[in-house]
Amino acid sequence: MPEHTTFGPPSPQPQNAVVSTGEGHREWWRDAVVYEVYPRSFLDSDGDGEGDLNGVRARLDYLADLGVDAVWIAPWFPSPMADGGYDVSDYCDIDPRYGTLDDAVALIAEAHQRGLKVIIDMVANHTSEAHPWFRAALAAPAGSPERARYLFRDGTGPDGSLPPNNWISAFGGSAWIRITEPDGAPGQWYLHTFAPEQPDLNWDNEQVREDFDAILRFWFDHGVDGIRVDAAPAFSKTSGLPDADYGGDLRFRSGEWVGNPHWDIDAVHTIFKRWRRVADSYDGDRVLVAEAVVAGPERLVRYLAPDEIHTAFNFEFLKVPWDAGLRPVIDETRAVLAPVGAPATWVLGSHDELRLASRYGREDSSSEVGSSPDIPSDIELGTRRLRAAALLMFALPGTAYVFQGDELALPSVDDIPEDRLQDPLWERSGHTVRGRDACRVPLPWSGGAPPYGFSPDGARSEPWLPQPESWAGLTVAAQSADPGSTLNLHRQALRLRHEIPALRSDAFAWRESPDDVLDFERGPSLRCVVNLSGAPIDLDPDWKVLVSSVPLDGSVLPHDAAAWLTPRAV
Ligand code: GLC
Ligand code: MG
Repeated sequence: MPEHTTFGPPSPQPQNAVVSTGEGHREWWRDAVVYEVYPRSFLDSDGDGEGDLNGVRARLDYLADLGVDAVWIAPWFPSPMADGGYDVSDYCDIDPRYGTLDDAVALIAEAHQRGLKVIIDMVANHTSEAHPWFRAALAAPAGSPERARYLFRDGTGPDGSLPPNNWISAFGGSAWIRITEPDGAPGQWYLHTFAPEQPDLNWDNEQVREDFDAILRFWFDHGVDGIRVDAAPAFSKTSGLPDADYGGDLRFRSGEWVGNPHWDIDAVHTIFKRWRRVADSYDGDRVLVAEAVVAGPERLVRYLAPDEIHTAFNFEFLKVPWDAGLRPVIDETRAVLAPVGAPATWVLGSHDELRLASRYGREDSSSEVGSSPDIPSDIELGTRRLRAAALLMFALPGTAYVFQGDELALPSVDDIPEDRLQDPLWERSGHTVRGRDACRVPLPWSGGAPPYGFSPDGARSEPWLPQPESWAGLTVAAQSADPGSTLNLHRQALRLRHEIPALRSDAFAWRESPDDVLDFERGPSLRCVVNLSGAPIDLDPDWKVLVSSVPLDGSVLPHDAAAWLTPRAV
Protein backbone atom coordinates (compact mmCIF):
# COMPACT_ATOMS: atom_id res chain seq x y z
CA MET A 1 0.00 0.00 0.00
CA PRO A 2 1.54 3.36 -0.96
CA GLU A 3 2.46 5.83 1.73
CA HIS A 4 0.83 9.21 1.29
CA THR A 5 3.59 11.31 2.68
CA THR A 6 4.15 13.70 -0.19
CA PHE A 7 1.78 15.97 -1.97
CA GLY A 8 2.39 17.15 -5.46
CA PRO A 9 -0.22 18.30 -7.88
CA PRO A 10 -3.02 15.76 -8.06
CA SER A 11 -2.30 13.08 -10.64
CA PRO A 12 -5.15 11.56 -12.61
CA GLN A 13 -5.80 7.93 -11.77
CA PRO A 14 -6.84 5.39 -14.37
CA GLN A 15 -10.36 4.08 -13.83
CA ASN A 16 -9.20 0.53 -13.30
CA ALA A 17 -6.28 1.15 -10.92
CA VAL A 18 -7.91 -0.92 -8.20
CA VAL A 19 -5.54 -2.58 -5.78
CA SER A 20 -5.99 -6.32 -5.93
CA THR A 21 -7.77 -7.79 -2.95
CA GLY A 22 -6.12 -11.13 -3.54
CA GLU A 23 -5.05 -13.54 -0.85
CA GLY A 24 -3.34 -12.00 2.11
CA HIS A 25 -4.64 -8.53 1.44
CA ARG A 26 -7.03 -7.31 4.06
CA GLU A 27 -8.31 -3.78 3.68
CA TRP A 28 -7.39 -1.56 6.61
CA TRP A 29 -10.99 -0.49 7.20
CA ARG A 30 -12.10 -4.02 8.12
CA ASP A 31 -10.45 -3.86 11.54
CA ALA A 32 -9.68 -0.19 12.09
CA VAL A 33 -10.42 1.68 15.29
CA VAL A 34 -11.65 5.05 14.09
CA TYR A 35 -11.53 8.15 16.29
CA GLU A 36 -14.08 10.85 15.56
CA VAL A 37 -12.64 14.35 15.70
CA TYR A 38 -15.24 17.09 16.03
CA PRO A 39 -12.84 19.84 14.97
CA ARG A 40 -14.64 22.75 16.61
CA SER A 41 -14.17 21.12 20.02
CA PHE A 42 -10.86 19.25 19.75
CA LEU A 43 -8.06 21.81 20.30
CA ASP A 44 -7.94 25.54 19.64
CA SER A 45 -4.44 26.53 18.47
CA ASP A 46 -5.12 30.20 17.74
CA GLY A 47 -7.09 31.32 20.77
CA ASP A 48 -10.43 32.14 19.14
CA GLY A 49 -12.27 29.71 21.41
CA GLU A 50 -12.91 27.22 18.60
CA GLY A 51 -10.90 24.15 17.72
CA ASP A 52 -8.97 24.17 14.45
CA LEU A 53 -6.91 21.99 12.14
CA ASN A 54 -3.58 23.10 13.56
CA GLY A 55 -4.99 21.99 16.89
CA VAL A 56 -5.64 18.55 15.42
CA ARG A 57 -2.12 18.50 13.91
CA ALA A 58 -0.66 19.33 17.30
CA ARG A 59 -2.34 16.29 18.82
CA LEU A 60 -1.75 13.66 16.14
CA ASP A 61 0.85 12.15 18.44
CA TYR A 62 -1.80 11.89 21.13
CA LEU A 63 -4.02 9.95 18.71
CA ALA A 64 -1.20 7.72 17.48
CA ASP A 65 -0.22 7.01 21.07
CA LEU A 66 -3.83 6.25 21.96
CA GLY A 67 -3.56 3.49 19.37
CA VAL A 68 -6.36 4.32 16.95
CA ASP A 69 -5.90 3.54 13.26
CA ALA A 70 -7.88 6.32 11.63
CA VAL A 71 -9.52 9.64 12.31
CA TRP A 72 -12.90 10.66 10.98
CA ILE A 73 -13.04 14.42 10.93
CA ALA A 74 -16.53 15.95 11.12
CA PRO A 75 -17.12 18.61 8.42
CA TRP A 76 -14.28 21.08 8.05
CA PHE A 77 -15.59 23.02 5.05
CA PRO A 78 -16.58 26.70 5.00
CA SER A 79 -19.91 26.89 6.76
CA PRO A 80 -22.16 29.46 8.43
CA MET A 81 -22.51 26.80 11.19
CA ALA A 82 -26.28 26.74 11.20
CA ASP A 83 -25.86 23.01 11.95
CA GLY A 84 -22.35 22.68 13.32
CA GLY A 85 -20.69 22.53 9.89
CA TYR A 86 -23.23 20.17 8.32
CA ASP A 87 -24.28 23.18 6.25
CA VAL A 88 -21.51 23.53 3.68
CA SER A 89 -20.97 26.63 1.57
CA ASP A 90 -17.88 25.40 -0.32
CA TYR A 91 -16.97 21.72 -0.65
CA CYS A 92 -13.39 22.30 -1.81
CA ASP A 93 -12.01 24.51 0.93
CA ILE A 94 -11.60 24.74 4.71
CA ASP A 95 -13.59 27.00 7.01
CA PRO A 96 -11.38 29.97 8.01
CA ARG A 97 -12.10 29.32 11.68
CA TYR A 98 -10.43 25.91 11.19
CA GLY A 99 -7.54 27.08 9.01
CA THR A 100 -6.67 26.70 5.36
CA LEU A 101 -6.55 24.05 2.68
CA ASP A 102 -2.78 23.94 3.21
CA ASP A 103 -3.37 23.09 6.87
CA ALA A 104 -5.66 20.24 5.78
CA VAL A 105 -3.06 18.94 3.33
CA ALA A 106 -0.42 19.09 6.07
CA LEU A 107 -2.77 17.35 8.50
CA ILE A 108 -3.40 14.50 6.06
CA ALA A 109 0.33 14.09 5.38
CA GLU A 110 1.26 14.20 9.06
CA ALA A 111 -1.48 11.71 9.92
CA HIS A 112 -0.15 9.36 7.25
CA GLN A 113 3.38 9.70 8.61
CA ARG A 114 2.02 8.33 11.88
CA GLY A 115 0.17 5.51 10.17
CA LEU A 116 -3.22 7.14 10.71
CA LYS A 117 -5.85 7.11 7.96
CA VAL A 118 -8.08 10.14 7.41
CA ILE A 119 -11.81 9.94 6.73
CA ILE A 120 -13.69 13.15 5.97
CA ASP A 121 -17.37 13.89 6.20
CA MET A 122 -19.27 14.58 2.98
CA VAL A 123 -22.56 16.37 3.50
CA ALA A 124 -24.21 16.07 0.12
CA ASN A 125 -27.91 15.66 0.76
CA HIS A 126 -28.01 19.41 1.24
CA THR A 127 -25.82 22.47 0.99
CA SER A 128 -25.81 25.57 3.12
CA GLU A 129 -28.21 28.31 2.06
CA ALA A 130 -25.01 30.36 1.66
CA HIS A 131 -23.64 28.06 -1.05
CA PRO A 132 -23.26 29.94 -4.36
CA TRP A 133 -25.45 27.27 -6.01
CA PHE A 134 -28.31 28.16 -3.71
CA ARG A 135 -27.75 31.91 -3.97
CA ALA A 136 -27.90 31.51 -7.76
CA ALA A 137 -31.08 29.44 -7.44
CA LEU A 138 -32.75 32.15 -5.38
CA ALA A 139 -31.76 34.81 -7.91
CA ALA A 140 -32.93 32.80 -10.92
CA PRO A 141 -36.58 32.36 -11.97
CA ALA A 142 -38.77 29.34 -11.28
CA GLY A 143 -38.06 26.58 -13.78
CA SER A 144 -34.44 27.68 -14.33
CA PRO A 145 -31.48 25.27 -14.36
CA GLU A 146 -30.21 27.00 -11.19
CA ARG A 147 -33.42 26.07 -9.34
CA ALA A 148 -33.28 22.56 -10.77
CA ARG A 149 -30.25 21.81 -8.58
CA TYR A 150 -32.54 21.98 -5.54
CA LEU A 151 -36.11 20.93 -4.80
CA PHE A 152 -38.14 24.05 -5.50
CA ARG A 153 -41.89 23.63 -5.96
CA ASP A 154 -44.92 25.88 -6.16
CA GLY A 155 -47.03 25.95 -3.03
CA THR A 156 -50.54 24.57 -2.76
CA GLY A 157 -53.75 26.26 -1.73
CA PRO A 158 -55.44 29.11 -3.63
CA ASP A 159 -52.46 31.47 -3.48
CA GLY A 160 -49.65 28.93 -3.12
CA SER A 161 -49.29 29.78 0.54
CA LEU A 162 -49.39 26.20 1.73
CA PRO A 163 -46.39 23.88 1.47
CA PRO A 164 -46.14 21.57 -1.55
CA ASN A 165 -46.70 18.48 0.62
CA ASN A 166 -46.80 17.28 4.23
CA TRP A 167 -43.14 16.26 4.65
CA ILE A 168 -41.52 16.97 8.00
CA SER A 169 -38.00 18.10 8.87
CA ALA A 170 -35.61 16.10 11.04
CA PHE A 171 -35.30 19.18 13.22
CA GLY A 172 -39.05 19.68 13.66
CA GLY A 173 -41.87 21.30 11.70
CA SER A 174 -42.51 21.33 7.96
CA ALA A 175 -39.63 20.45 5.63
CA TRP A 176 -40.62 23.32 3.30
CA ILE A 177 -40.02 27.02 3.43
CA ARG A 178 -41.34 29.71 1.12
CA ILE A 179 -39.00 32.16 -0.53
CA THR A 180 -39.49 35.70 -1.70
CA GLU A 181 -38.85 35.96 -5.44
CA PRO A 182 -36.26 38.48 -6.68
CA ASP A 183 -39.12 40.87 -7.61
CA GLY A 184 -40.38 40.84 -4.01
CA ALA A 185 -43.42 38.62 -4.60
CA PRO A 186 -44.11 35.60 -2.38
CA GLY A 187 -42.67 32.73 -4.34
CA GLN A 188 -41.84 29.05 -4.55
CA TRP A 189 -41.02 26.72 -1.71
CA TYR A 190 -37.85 24.69 -1.22
CA LEU A 191 -37.32 21.45 0.63
CA HIS A 192 -35.04 21.17 3.68
CA THR A 193 -34.92 17.74 5.30
CA PHE A 194 -32.83 19.29 8.10
CA ALA A 195 -32.71 22.99 9.10
CA PRO A 196 -34.11 25.68 6.76
CA GLU A 197 -30.49 26.79 6.26
CA GLN A 198 -29.82 23.34 4.69
CA PRO A 199 -31.68 23.18 1.35
CA ASP A 200 -31.83 19.67 -0.12
CA LEU A 201 -30.07 19.10 -3.42
CA ASN A 202 -31.94 17.44 -6.26
CA TRP A 203 -30.01 14.22 -6.81
CA ASP A 204 -32.02 13.45 -9.94
CA ASN A 205 -30.12 16.32 -11.52
CA GLU A 206 -27.13 15.14 -13.57
CA GLN A 207 -25.24 18.37 -12.87
CA VAL A 208 -25.43 17.69 -9.13
CA ARG A 209 -24.11 14.17 -9.66
CA GLU A 210 -21.23 15.38 -11.80
CA ASP A 211 -20.30 18.14 -9.39
CA PHE A 212 -20.03 15.66 -6.55
CA ASP A 213 -17.94 13.25 -8.62
CA ALA A 214 -15.49 16.14 -8.94
CA ILE A 215 -15.70 17.00 -5.23
CA LEU A 216 -14.98 13.40 -4.22
CA ARG A 217 -12.05 13.35 -6.61
CA PHE A 218 -10.76 16.64 -5.22
CA TRP A 219 -10.46 15.12 -1.76
CA PHE A 220 -9.21 11.71 -2.88
CA ASP A 221 -6.58 13.56 -4.93
CA HIS A 222 -5.60 15.38 -1.75
CA GLY A 223 -5.00 12.02 -0.11
CA VAL A 224 -8.01 11.33 2.09
CA ASP A 225 -8.52 7.63 2.75
CA GLY A 226 -12.25 7.65 3.16
CA ILE A 227 -15.50 9.53 2.96
CA ARG A 228 -18.34 9.38 5.46
CA VAL A 229 -21.63 9.72 3.61
CA ASP A 230 -23.78 11.98 5.75
CA ALA A 231 -27.54 11.32 5.79
CA ALA A 232 -27.26 8.75 2.99
CA PRO A 233 -30.94 7.65 2.95
CA ALA A 234 -32.13 11.22 2.40
CA PHE A 235 -30.59 11.83 -1.03
CA SER A 236 -33.42 10.48 -3.23
CA LYS A 237 -37.10 11.32 -3.10
CA THR A 238 -40.05 9.54 -4.69
CA SER A 239 -40.85 11.33 -7.93
CA GLY A 240 -43.88 13.55 -7.77
CA LEU A 241 -43.07 14.16 -4.07
CA PRO A 242 -46.27 12.53 -2.76
CA ASP A 243 -47.48 13.10 0.80
CA ALA A 244 -45.99 10.81 3.43
CA ASP A 245 -48.06 8.62 5.73
CA TYR A 246 -46.52 9.19 9.16
CA GLY A 247 -49.27 7.22 10.87
CA GLY A 248 -50.17 10.24 12.99
CA ASP A 249 -46.68 10.48 14.54
CA LEU A 250 -45.00 13.64 13.29
CA ARG A 251 -41.61 12.82 14.76
CA PHE A 252 -38.74 12.07 12.39
CA ARG A 253 -38.59 8.35 13.07
CA SER A 254 -36.44 7.42 10.11
CA GLY A 255 -35.27 4.22 11.80
CA GLU A 256 -38.83 2.90 11.60
CA TRP A 257 -40.18 4.25 8.33
CA VAL A 258 -41.14 1.76 5.66
CA GLY A 259 -42.21 3.03 2.24
CA ASN A 260 -41.63 6.66 3.19
CA PRO A 261 -41.32 8.90 0.09
CA HIS A 262 -38.37 11.00 1.31
CA TRP A 263 -36.21 8.46 3.15
CA ASP A 264 -34.45 5.27 2.02
CA ILE A 265 -35.93 5.29 -1.47
CA ASP A 266 -34.49 2.51 -3.64
CA ALA A 267 -33.32 5.03 -6.24
CA VAL A 268 -30.73 6.26 -3.75
CA HIS A 269 -28.48 3.31 -4.54
CA THR A 270 -27.60 4.49 -8.05
CA ILE A 271 -25.91 7.51 -6.44
CA PHE A 272 -23.69 5.50 -4.13
CA LYS A 273 -22.79 2.95 -6.79
CA ARG A 274 -21.52 5.93 -8.73
CA TRP A 275 -19.55 7.16 -5.71
CA ARG A 276 -18.09 3.68 -5.33
CA ARG A 277 -16.81 3.78 -8.91
CA VAL A 278 -15.02 7.03 -8.05
CA ALA A 279 -13.50 5.53 -4.87
CA ASP A 280 -12.45 2.38 -6.72
CA SER A 281 -10.56 4.41 -9.29
CA TYR A 282 -8.00 5.25 -6.57
CA ASP A 283 -5.37 3.06 -4.99
CA GLY A 284 -4.96 2.40 -1.28
CA ASP A 285 -8.35 0.98 -0.31
CA ARG A 286 -10.29 4.24 -0.11
CA VAL A 287 -13.43 3.62 1.88
CA LEU A 288 -17.00 4.91 1.94
CA VAL A 289 -18.81 4.84 5.30
CA ALA A 290 -22.57 5.30 5.36
CA GLU A 291 -24.55 7.13 7.96
CA ALA A 292 -27.84 5.40 7.27
CA VAL A 293 -30.54 5.20 9.91
CA VAL A 294 -33.09 2.94 8.24
CA ALA A 295 -35.78 0.48 9.23
CA GLY A 296 -33.72 -2.52 10.22
CA PRO A 297 -30.75 -4.48 8.95
CA GLU A 298 -32.36 -5.74 5.73
CA ARG A 299 -32.71 -2.15 4.55
CA LEU A 300 -29.21 -1.29 5.73
CA VAL A 301 -27.43 -4.05 3.81
CA ARG A 302 -28.76 -2.61 0.56
CA TYR A 303 -26.25 0.22 1.04
CA LEU A 304 -23.51 -2.35 1.53
CA ALA A 305 -23.75 -4.26 -1.74
CA PRO A 306 -20.29 -5.19 -3.05
CA ASP A 307 -20.47 -2.39 -5.63
CA GLU A 308 -21.73 0.24 -3.23
CA ILE A 309 -20.75 1.58 0.21
CA HIS A 310 -18.07 -0.41 2.04
CA THR A 311 -19.26 -0.05 5.61
CA ALA A 312 -22.01 1.60 7.65
CA PHE A 313 -22.49 2.79 11.20
CA ASN A 314 -24.30 0.31 13.37
CA PHE A 315 -27.08 2.26 15.02
CA GLU A 316 -28.66 -0.80 16.63
CA PHE A 317 -25.59 -1.29 18.81
CA LEU A 318 -25.56 2.40 19.65
CA LYS A 319 -29.20 2.44 20.73
CA VAL A 320 -29.40 -0.65 22.87
CA PRO A 321 -29.27 -0.32 26.69
CA TRP A 322 -26.43 -1.80 28.74
CA ASP A 323 -28.00 -5.20 29.39
CA ALA A 324 -28.48 -8.69 28.00
CA GLY A 325 -29.98 -7.09 24.88
CA LEU A 326 -26.45 -6.45 23.62
CA ARG A 327 -25.96 -10.09 22.66
CA PRO A 328 -28.82 -10.36 20.13
CA VAL A 329 -27.68 -7.08 18.55
CA ILE A 330 -24.18 -8.47 18.14
CA ASP A 331 -25.59 -11.67 16.62
CA GLU A 332 -27.97 -9.90 14.31
CA THR A 333 -25.30 -7.47 13.14
CA ARG A 334 -22.93 -10.26 12.28
CA ALA A 335 -25.59 -12.41 10.64
CA VAL A 336 -26.86 -9.64 8.43
CA LEU A 337 -23.47 -8.38 7.29
CA ALA A 338 -21.82 -11.73 6.62
CA PRO A 339 -23.54 -12.38 3.26
CA VAL A 340 -22.48 -9.00 1.83
CA GLY A 341 -18.95 -9.32 3.22
CA ALA A 342 -19.06 -5.97 5.02
CA PRO A 343 -17.36 -5.71 8.40
CA ALA A 344 -19.46 -5.02 11.47
CA THR A 345 -19.05 -1.59 13.00
CA TRP A 346 -19.34 -0.93 16.71
CA VAL A 347 -20.27 2.64 17.55
CA LEU A 348 -21.34 3.92 20.95
CA GLY A 349 -21.00 7.67 20.65
CA SER A 350 -20.79 10.55 18.20
CA HIS A 351 -21.33 14.29 17.94
CA ASP A 352 -25.06 13.53 17.67
CA GLU A 353 -25.47 11.35 20.76
CA LEU A 354 -25.62 11.59 24.49
CA ARG A 355 -22.21 11.04 26.11
CA LEU A 356 -21.79 7.40 27.04
CA ALA A 357 -20.61 7.96 30.62
CA SER A 358 -23.93 9.69 31.27
CA ARG A 359 -26.20 7.46 29.23
CA TYR A 360 -24.88 4.26 30.82
CA GLY A 361 -25.45 5.77 34.26
CA ARG A 362 -29.15 6.41 33.66
CA GLU A 363 -31.93 4.13 34.71
CA ASP A 364 -32.94 3.89 31.04
CA SER A 365 -29.54 3.46 29.41
CA SER A 366 -30.86 3.28 25.83
CA SER A 367 -30.02 6.23 23.62
CA GLU A 368 -33.67 7.11 23.09
CA VAL A 369 -33.74 10.06 25.49
CA GLY A 370 -31.48 13.04 24.84
CA SER A 371 -29.76 15.60 27.00
CA SER A 372 -31.70 16.95 29.96
CA PRO A 373 -30.63 18.43 33.29
CA ASP A 374 -33.63 16.68 34.87
CA ILE A 375 -32.68 13.06 34.23
CA PRO A 376 -30.45 11.71 36.99
CA SER A 377 -27.36 9.77 36.03
CA ASP A 378 -24.89 7.86 38.17
CA ILE A 379 -21.71 8.93 36.37
CA GLU A 380 -19.54 6.54 38.36
CA LEU A 381 -21.62 3.59 37.19
CA GLY A 382 -21.78 5.05 33.66
CA THR A 383 -17.99 5.35 33.57
CA ARG A 384 -17.56 1.82 34.82
CA ARG A 385 -19.84 0.53 32.08
CA LEU A 386 -18.15 2.68 29.45
CA ARG A 387 -14.85 1.04 30.36
CA ALA A 388 -16.35 -2.43 30.06
CA ALA A 389 -18.00 -1.41 26.78
CA ALA A 390 -14.63 -0.27 25.41
CA LEU A 391 -13.16 -3.73 26.05
CA LEU A 392 -16.23 -5.34 24.49
CA MET A 393 -16.13 -3.12 21.43
CA PHE A 394 -12.40 -3.51 20.85
CA ALA A 395 -12.70 -7.30 21.18
CA LEU A 396 -15.51 -7.72 18.66
CA PRO A 397 -14.59 -8.45 15.04
CA GLY A 398 -14.90 -5.43 12.76
CA THR A 399 -14.43 -1.69 13.06
CA ALA A 400 -14.84 0.29 16.27
CA TYR A 401 -15.52 4.01 16.59
CA VAL A 402 -14.50 6.21 19.50
CA PHE A 403 -16.01 9.68 19.74
CA GLN A 404 -13.50 12.23 21.00
CA GLY A 405 -13.63 12.50 24.77
CA ASP A 406 -15.20 9.08 25.31
CA GLU A 407 -11.66 7.81 25.92
CA LEU A 408 -11.70 10.26 28.85
CA ALA A 409 -15.20 9.18 29.94
CA LEU A 410 -16.40 12.77 29.69
CA PRO A 411 -19.94 13.09 30.95
CA SER A 412 -22.67 14.83 29.02
CA VAL A 413 -22.92 18.54 29.88
CA ASP A 414 -26.65 18.73 30.38
CA ASP A 415 -26.76 22.13 32.08
CA ILE A 416 -25.31 24.41 29.39
CA PRO A 417 -27.10 27.75 29.94
CA GLU A 418 -29.97 28.01 27.48
CA ASP A 419 -28.63 31.20 25.93
CA ARG A 420 -25.41 29.39 25.02
CA LEU A 421 -27.05 26.46 23.20
CA GLN A 422 -26.15 26.35 19.52
CA ASP A 423 -27.83 23.24 18.15
CA PRO A 424 -30.66 24.21 15.75
CA LEU A 425 -32.80 21.56 17.46
CA TRP A 426 -33.17 23.89 20.44
CA GLU A 427 -34.81 26.67 18.45
CA ARG A 428 -36.66 24.41 16.03
CA SER A 429 -38.24 22.41 18.87
CA GLY A 430 -39.59 25.53 20.54
CA HIS A 431 -37.05 25.09 23.35
CA THR A 432 -38.17 21.58 24.24
CA VAL A 433 -35.19 19.61 22.87
CA ARG A 434 -31.79 20.79 24.13
CA GLY A 435 -30.10 18.99 21.29
CA ARG A 436 -26.56 17.77 20.86
CA ASP A 437 -24.38 20.46 22.38
CA ALA A 438 -24.04 18.39 25.57
CA CYS A 439 -21.56 16.05 23.85
CA ARG A 440 -19.80 18.80 21.86
CA VAL A 441 -18.20 20.68 24.74
CA PRO A 442 -14.49 21.36 24.05
CA LEU A 443 -12.05 18.72 25.28
CA PRO A 444 -10.10 19.20 28.52
CA TRP A 445 -6.38 18.70 27.90
CA SER A 446 -4.66 19.98 31.03
CA GLY A 447 -4.86 22.32 34.01
CA GLY A 448 -7.31 22.76 36.84
CA ALA A 449 -9.89 25.14 35.36
CA PRO A 450 -11.51 26.02 32.02
CA PRO A 451 -10.33 26.19 29.28
CA TYR A 452 -8.23 23.19 30.46
CA GLY A 453 -5.61 23.75 27.77
CA PHE A 454 -8.23 23.67 25.01
CA SER A 455 -7.21 27.22 24.08
CA PRO A 456 -3.69 28.62 24.56
CA ASP A 457 -2.86 30.81 27.54
CA GLY A 458 -4.11 34.35 27.06
CA ALA A 459 -6.70 33.26 24.47
CA ARG A 460 -8.90 36.13 23.31
CA SER A 461 -12.14 34.15 23.57
CA GLU A 462 -13.67 31.58 25.89
CA PRO A 463 -14.42 28.11 24.51
CA TRP A 464 -17.47 28.31 22.22
CA LEU A 465 -19.41 26.07 24.61
CA PRO A 466 -18.73 26.43 28.34
CA GLN A 467 -16.78 23.62 30.03
CA PRO A 468 -17.81 22.42 33.51
CA GLU A 469 -15.81 23.41 36.58
CA SER A 470 -15.66 19.73 37.52
CA TRP A 471 -13.44 18.45 34.70
CA ALA A 472 -9.99 18.98 36.28
CA GLY A 473 -9.65 15.27 37.09
CA LEU A 474 -10.69 14.23 33.59
CA THR A 475 -8.06 16.08 31.55
CA VAL A 476 -5.66 14.20 29.30
CA ALA A 477 -2.80 15.33 31.53
CA ALA A 478 -4.47 14.12 34.72
CA GLN A 479 -5.47 10.80 33.20
CA SER A 480 -2.06 10.24 31.62
CA ALA A 481 -0.53 10.43 35.09
CA ASP A 482 -2.96 7.85 36.50
CA PRO A 483 -2.23 4.26 35.44
CA GLY A 484 -5.81 3.25 36.26
CA SER A 485 -7.50 6.00 34.23
CA THR A 486 -10.01 5.42 31.47
CA LEU A 487 -7.54 6.95 29.02
CA ASN A 488 -4.84 4.46 29.99
CA LEU A 489 -7.32 1.60 29.76
CA HIS A 490 -8.00 2.61 26.15
CA ARG A 491 -4.27 2.83 25.44
CA GLN A 492 -3.64 -0.58 26.94
CA ALA A 493 -6.50 -2.28 25.09
CA LEU A 494 -5.60 -0.70 21.77
CA ARG A 495 -1.96 -1.71 22.16
CA LEU A 496 -3.10 -5.31 22.67
CA ARG A 497 -5.45 -5.04 19.73
CA HIS A 498 -2.42 -4.31 17.57
CA GLU A 499 -0.33 -7.05 19.12
CA ILE A 500 -2.83 -9.90 18.93
CA PRO A 501 -3.44 -10.93 15.32
CA ALA A 502 -6.71 -12.72 16.20
CA LEU A 503 -8.21 -9.34 17.00
CA ARG A 504 -7.70 -8.35 13.39
CA SER A 505 -9.31 -11.51 11.98
CA ASP A 506 -12.86 -12.70 11.49
CA ALA A 507 -12.55 -15.42 14.14
CA PHE A 508 -15.43 -15.32 16.61
CA ALA A 509 -17.25 -17.90 18.71
CA TRP A 510 -19.54 -17.59 21.70
CA ARG A 511 -18.84 -19.77 24.71
CA GLU A 512 -21.66 -21.01 26.80
CA SER A 513 -22.73 -18.47 29.41
CA PRO A 514 -25.83 -17.03 31.07
CA ASP A 515 -27.69 -14.41 29.03
CA ASP A 516 -26.32 -11.52 31.00
CA VAL A 517 -22.70 -12.59 30.63
CA LEU A 518 -21.06 -12.16 27.24
CA ASP A 519 -18.29 -14.68 26.77
CA PHE A 520 -16.62 -15.14 23.39
CA GLU A 521 -13.36 -16.25 21.86
CA ARG A 522 -11.41 -14.65 19.08
CA GLY A 523 -9.41 -17.67 18.00
CA PRO A 524 -7.76 -19.89 20.60
CA SER A 525 -5.66 -17.19 22.23
CA LEU A 526 -8.12 -14.48 23.19
CA ARG A 527 -11.34 -14.54 25.09
CA CYS A 528 -13.50 -11.62 26.23
CA VAL A 529 -15.90 -11.82 29.15
CA VAL A 530 -18.34 -9.02 29.93
CA ASN A 531 -20.42 -9.14 33.09
CA LEU A 532 -23.77 -7.44 32.53
CA SER A 533 -25.40 -9.16 35.49
CA GLY A 534 -25.72 -7.20 38.70
CA ALA A 535 -23.49 -9.64 40.59
CA PRO A 536 -19.86 -10.85 40.54
CA ILE A 537 -18.96 -13.95 38.51
CA ASP A 538 -16.02 -16.34 38.68
CA LEU A 539 -13.59 -16.34 35.78
CA ASP A 540 -12.34 -19.62 34.31
CA PRO A 541 -9.13 -20.50 36.24
CA ASP A 542 -7.54 -21.96 33.10
CA TRP A 543 -7.35 -18.49 31.61
CA LYS A 544 -5.29 -15.55 32.79
CA VAL A 545 -6.27 -11.91 32.58
CA LEU A 546 -4.57 -9.67 29.98
CA VAL A 547 -6.53 -6.55 30.75
CA SER A 548 -9.62 -5.77 32.77
CA SER A 549 -11.90 -2.76 32.93
CA VAL A 550 -11.61 -2.58 36.74
CA PRO A 551 -8.86 -3.92 39.05
CA LEU A 552 -9.64 -7.57 39.82
CA ASP A 553 -9.51 -9.35 43.12
CA GLY A 554 -8.31 -12.86 42.25
CA SER A 555 -10.38 -14.40 39.49
CA VAL A 556 -13.66 -12.68 40.30
CA LEU A 557 -15.13 -10.38 37.68
CA PRO A 558 -17.39 -7.87 39.44
CA HIS A 559 -20.61 -6.39 38.04
CA ASP A 560 -20.45 -4.09 35.01
CA ALA A 561 -16.91 -5.10 34.17
CA ALA A 562 -15.06 -6.85 31.35
CA ALA A 563 -11.79 -8.73 30.93
CA TRP A 564 -9.67 -10.09 28.11
CA LEU A 565 -8.22 -13.52 28.85
CA THR A 566 -5.62 -15.81 27.35
CA PRO A 567 -5.02 -19.51 28.11
CA ARG A 568 -2.69 -20.10 31.04
CA ALA A 569 -0.83 -23.09 29.67
CA VAL A 570 0.01 -23.48 26.01
C1 GLC B 1 -26.02 13.79 10.23
C2 GLC B 1 -25.01 14.46 11.12
C3 GLC B 1 -25.72 15.48 11.95
C4 GLC B 1 -26.35 16.51 11.03
C5 GLC B 1 -27.23 15.85 9.97
C6 GLC B 1 -27.57 16.79 8.86
O1 GLC B 1 -26.99 13.12 10.93
O2 GLC B 1 -24.35 13.50 11.90
O3 GLC B 1 -24.87 16.10 12.86
O4 GLC B 1 -27.14 17.39 11.79
O5 GLC B 1 -26.60 14.75 9.37
O6 GLC B 1 -26.48 17.02 8.03
MG1 MG C 1 -9.17 28.23 16.93
